[in-house]
Amino acid sequence: MNRTAQPEDEHSRAARAADAFHQLYGASPDGVWAAPGRVNLIGEHTDYNDGFALPMALPQTTLLAARARTDGRLRLHSAQGDGRITDLVVADLAPGVVTGWTSYPAGVLWALAGAGYGIGGADLHFDSTVPTGAGLSSSAALECAVAVAYDELYRLALTGPELARIAQRAENGFAGVPCGIMDQMASVCCTAEAALHLDARSPESHRQVPFDLLGQGLRLLVIDTRVTHDLGDGAYASLRAGCERAAALLGLPALRDLPAAELPRALRALPAELAPLVRHVVTENARVGEAVSRLEEGDAAALGPILTAGHASLRDDYRVSCPETDLVVTAALAAGAPGARMTGGGFGGSVIALVEAGRQDAVGRSVTEAFAAAGHRPPHILEATPAAGARRLVL
Ligand code: GLA
Repeated sequence: MNRTAQPEDEHSRAARAADAFHQLYGASPDGVWAAPGRVNLIGEHTDYNDGFALPMALPQTTLLAARARTDGRLRLHSAQGDGRITDLVVADLAPGVVTGWTSYPAGVLWALAGAGYGIGGADLHFDSTVPTGAGLSSSAALECAVAVAYDELYRLALTGPELARIAQRAENGFAGVPCGIMDQMASVCCTAEAALHLDARSPESHRQVPFDLLGQGLRLLVIDTRVTHDLGDGAYASLRAGCERAAALLGLPALRDLPAAELPRALRALPAELAPLVRHVVTENARVGEAVSRLEEGDAAALGPILTAGHASLRDDYRVSCPETDLVVTAALAAGAPGARMTGGGFGGSVIALVEAGRQDAVGRSVTEAFAAAGHRPPHILEATPAAGARRLVL
């Protein structure tokens, strides 16, 4: 089984990032911050419908060593990049000026400046263990690391949800990705050993729901299929537009406002192409509520069937699954996992599987064998525990 190693001790990673910063920029950083990637337990494609989600932060983080500058320059470097330092001027930042990974951090400065915050430049060095292209929100981790660092460096005193909104604006307005707010809320506001109950209409009201995965004899596998279907980019925007059109046809501010009891009538009233989208969103919001209740009762194993039902809804109604994610879910369930589903936006990316402690290798092996039999590259498998959100690290 190709299981990724557990994250290296954060202190030594932070010290290494500070050393690398010194070598690059000739001075010590003002601090080192960390922001995690995420998996979403349930509540997919609900955030931009003003609905509910239940993400948790991953132990994998993006570290940022940063030092404020007084001359308005922004310099960026990543340990995972091509070795070059990107040199920009904060006052010149505008959508389209920067492309590639640097658009996420630069976009945060653009969003802060646009919101009227008095910020200056900085030297930044990133070092990340969040897998990229796996649907685990590596871009949100980049944005949120910058947001929390800038909050401190420039004494902005923003709340977690305010920082998440800035990071989302960077992604929407600067990087050009029309995402909702879930990934950024997860990266900023999650806490260890809990899932985040998010109401996307009022992110300020988020709640921590205890998720004692290990204590209840369970493990969570994150299985990266290593496929990304190109369809994803345009499809996300058009699904979002379809939901907005359906809400408008129903005379509602957002699909979140459609009560489950009125779903059958709404489905009859809507055009055939929109009805399944609405059915997914309404039933998915209900699944979030159910999952939160089960966790609050201390019954994490009861999440299993909820996850699997969520996958069926994403596959059959929302149609954002793909053969590879379906195959992982089927193989994990056949190997005895109590529940499994694709996580994130879809069209590839990762699957989460809830498994009983001790069954990780067996489930991982079955998935890997099923992948080999279908001619796919072996998936990357890691074990996740609910970890902390963005924070400053002590050096
Ligand atoms: C992506 C987006 C999120 C959310 C999910 C689907 O991860 O960034 O805002 O919409 O897809 O739940």
